[in-house]
Amino acid sequence: MLKATPPNPNPHTPDSQGRFGSFGGRFVSETLMPLLIDLEHAWQQAKDDPSFWQAFDAYARDYIGRPSPLYHAAALESHLRTHKAFKGILYFKREDLNHTGAHKINNCLGQVLLAKRMGKTRIIAETGAGQHGVATATVCARFSLPCTIYMGATDIQRQAPNVQRMACLNANIHAVDAGTATLKDALNEALRDWVQHVDDTFYIIGSVAGPHPYPMLVRDLQAIIGKETAQQLQDKGHAHPHYLIACVGGGSNAIGLFHPFLADTRVRMVGVEAAGRNTTDGNHAAALTLGAPGVLHGSYSYLLQNEDGQIQPVHSVAAGLDYPGVGPEHAFLKDTARVDYQCVNDQQALAALRLTAQKEGIISALETAHALAYVIDNAETFEKDAVIVINLSGRGDKDMQTLAEYP
Ligand SMILES: Cc1ncc(COP(=O)(O)O)c(C=O)c1O
Repeated sequence: MLKATPPNPNPHTPDSQGRFGSFGGRFVSETLMPLLIDLEHAWQQAKDDPSFWQAFDAYARDYIGRPSPLYHAAALESHLRTHKAFKGILYFKREDLNHTGAHKINNCLGQVLLAKRMGKTRIIAETGAGQHGVATATVCARFSLPCTIYMGATDIQRQAPNVQRMACLNANIHAVDAGTATLKDALNEALRDWVQHVDDTFYIIGSVAGPHPYPMLVRDLQAIIGKETAQQLQDKGHAHPHYLIACVGGGSNAIGLFHPFLADTRVRMVGVEAAGRNTTDGNHAAALTLGAPGVLHGSYSYLLQNEDGQIQPVHSVAAGLDYPGVGPEHAFLKDTARVDYQCVNDQQALAALRLTAQKEGIISALETAHALAYVIDNAETFEKDAVIVINLSGRGDKDMQTLAEYP
């Protein structure tokens, strides 16, 4: 069936089936289809309604604290100049300074406003690192909506601080023991809940994954990161960035930074996946670098699967990267070579987190540390005066327990 329909020729806007090139789509049961179509229509209307964006912008400013700063990481830059022959100019886009400590809140704010507009009275979400769960619980508290967060039992253990935050925000946390008890299993359970509560429930997906329209909806909301970056670079006297670097789990912080720049061929982009313990099966989460196309959670994209199409177990020290798939727009950007996808292992990420903390006084999330590690470990390859923006997707308070386990 996938081969029979020609790929979407204008892939930066998904076609009527939600495809970026050949990737994406809506591979779901008949029960879910009307919900997704409703959501797509609601988003099309909201997106064209200035009052939606007025409300979004007001909360983004006063509640989230946007715009997030574009910070010149002069201390790390100077360290890399001295020790690694680095010649570039290094900026951090400080999504860690958002309310709740990561980029995830941008998307949750937009989706909760959409849920209100659609008259939905109950919210569900999945979470891995707990950042999306916390962000969802936060907007639900603010907008007086009950919420249930699905989280794998393994993640509940390694991200305890975020579990406590969700509980404090009055979220109902549903532990998922199925499979590897991580993000993919939480997403399965959330989809199951949605099918059973079609009338009143809105599902806030936390990344650019899942069936159409989620990859487009989440991207449209996260694109605020790239739009602000473009303006902030101009204000600092840079016509454009030379490199944009972001970690990739499902891919939302990366696409949020990249998307407004995709048409500008002067801008090179690197998405950094988790190479985990090593690159053998079951030990990493590098779906784009080491996977093959297939269908997961209603979308056709790169996946980690075995020869029979069974989803492989995945591992990353960063819970938010521990996902066997990736958003379909990234699959398209990989195949068209518009974005370069690389991977970084656990040890590299841990070392980058520590170096950045020691030089800049910024403790990043372990997810983010993959992007930092790519730049630190390839510092000598950047041209003189290249303007490099790393998306500082989140802060690392949640990761202190994991850090202690890897002295
Ligand atoms: C701080 C942080 N960065 C990155 C990610 C990865 O998600 P995505 O690839 O959707 O940005 C997560 C996921 O939980 C996260 O918490």
